Amino acid sequence: MTAATPTPATTATAAPAGTTATVATAATRVHVLPHEPLCPGGLAFDAQPGVLLVDALLQQGIAIEHACEKVGACATCHVHVREGGQALKAPDEDEEDELDAAWGVDAQSRLACQVRVRGPALVIELPRHTRNHARER
Ligand code: FES
Repeated sequence: MTAATPTPATTATAAPAGTTATVATAATRVHVLPHEPLCPGGLAFDAQPGVLLVDALLQQGIAIEHACEKVGACATCHVHVREGGQALKAPDEDEEDELDAAWGVDAQSRLACQVRVRGPALVIELPRHTRNHARER
């Protein structure tokens, strides 16, 4: 018996009848920059490609707001993707329209509920303020 070795996250894919196929997909390393009060020390974790960024953050205990329950209609889940954004699917017109209502929008702004994690690494900055209420630090 051999010792168990860590395996990368895998995604099953359709295979011809009578065969099986599994394609390995590497996890995405997500770095969250320090933010008071949501993530004071910053955080780095691995996320499964394809998961919603908002869900990945919530699963790590980062209480990012998501007032519309992740349907892209409130902009409270606004984040800045400081690095790695080129690997993500570009925002659609609805996301861009909703971002117009967010605080502190810049060229790296995204709605975390509309972003599916992709690529080798992402660096996320949580805004100081949200549409729901202001955080002064
Ligand atoms: S949770 Fe409302 S826009 Fe993302």
